[in-house]
Amino acid sequence: MTKSANTMWGGRFAAGPDAIMEAINASIGYDRRLAPQDIAGSRAHAAMLAATGIITDTDAEAIREGLLTVLSEIETGDFPFSAALEDIHMNVEARLRDTIGESAGRLHTARSRNDQVAVDFRLWVRDQCDQADEALAALCKALVAQAEAGADWVMPGFTHLQTAQPVTWGHHMLAYVEMFARDRSRFADARKRMNTSPLGAAALAGTSFPIDREMTAKALGFDRPMANSLDAVSDRDFALEFLAASSICAMHLSRLAEELVIWSSAQFRFVKMSDKWSTGSSIMPQKRNPDAAELIRAKIGRIFGANVALMTVMKGLPLAYSKDMQEDKEQTFDAADNLMLALAAMTGMVGDMTAQREKLKAAASSGFSTATDLADWLVRELGLPFREAHHVTGSLVALAEGKGCDLPDLTLADMQGVHAGIRADVFDVLGVENSVASRTSFGGTAPSQVMAQVAHWKEILK
Ligand code: ARG
Repeated sequence: MTKSANTMWGGRFAAGPDAIMEAINASIGYDRRLAPQDIAGSRAHAAMLAATGIITDTDAEAIREGLLTVLSEIETGDFPFSAALEDIHMNVEARLRDTIGESAGRLHTARSRNDQVAVDFRLWVRDQCDQADEALAALCKALVAQAEAGADWVMPGFTHLQTAQPVTWGHHMLAYVEMFARDRSRFADARKRMNTSPLGAAALAGTSFPIDREMTAKALGFDRPMANSLDAVSDRDFALEFLAASSICAMHLSRLAEELVIWSSAQFRFVKMSDKWSTGSSIMPQKRNPDAAELIRAKIGRIFGANVALMTVMKGLPLAYSKDMQEDKEQTFDAADNLMLALAAMTGMVGDMTAQREKLKAAASSGFSTATDLADWLVRELGLPFREAHHVTGSLVALAEGKGCDLPDLTLADMQGVHAGIRADVFDVLGVENSVASRTSFGGTAPSQVMAQVAHWKEILK
């Protein structure tokens, strides 16, 4: 049996699509999420059509009422979604016709699905920027709380994952606050640029109807209408910028997640993850696995994947709209959903984890972490050139390593055997607490610097 032609554009068609054509063409399975944006866009459009005298107030009022009914059907799950109607735009319009009759047919005056989908998707992505911002602020607050609690807790700082110099727990937490704050500014920046309205670009060339694009832009919270109709229907930069910002944010989340995985291991034990964020093993009773951290670490895969996918979809597309662009949505939805989930999980984990102060300190005190402090002392107190001080310190480290002890465990005689000028007060700088307290340069790890930064962030995040 031949399917009947589409009621929206079936005028020149004798038959409906092949079943596989319908399967490849329909986007309703996923773009139904755009229903609230689609209806908001249509309401703004209908109000403008009435204000400019393009349709009557009676029709506009019927459309307005009808759209509200359709929205509530969608919200309550009573809406009869149909794949034959391809996408959310045609599903809503068809339902509007069932609901209000003929007036529904006037809604699509001076509009096309091309500007309609561009406005819907832009509104959706704009909302995701706001959600990302909120989620990032919550994560920053959790990190700042950790930083404040452990502003002076000493832990090893690493380079190459080898013990480098002692740092403070607070300083380490605040490093992530800096990263996530930059992520917030990237989303804010993208949001600002995307906040222009494609509505009224129609199919690609604009329209001969006397529409008021300023009015619809304003009604939808946009700063202004987009200035070129060809660009308005073919631009997907806004989604790409969102995905790029999401990718960088996911990369930051992945780095923190990796640290949590390492730190919660039996070999480190720097943090204890709460039961709420750990899983057990069905066979090994001793296990507490950091599954959430591992999954957050992995989310970058699909998020950056979405970024690459959409970039690849858009590459080489001639102006203006091509159906390729329908492939923008699923990837972006998936990336946004997973970013929000990862941010929420990370915020929960950070809020509930307990840093193991004693373990951190013990680890900070091993691995010759104050070797740089010793070299600096030789420069400051004995006037050695730094290169020579570095060499002397290296010999002392080798000596300690040979004896199986750490630098503060060497005797003064051991030290003087390497350099006769070394005095007993050198031991003051070999303690990790003194080491971190001395790093008072701006942005340094000293607890005084950390507390100043904590105060700064608390002010920003309040
Ligand atoms: N579902 C389509 C999309 O997501 C809507 C626009 C369709 N436009 C068209 N000319 N076929 O891109």
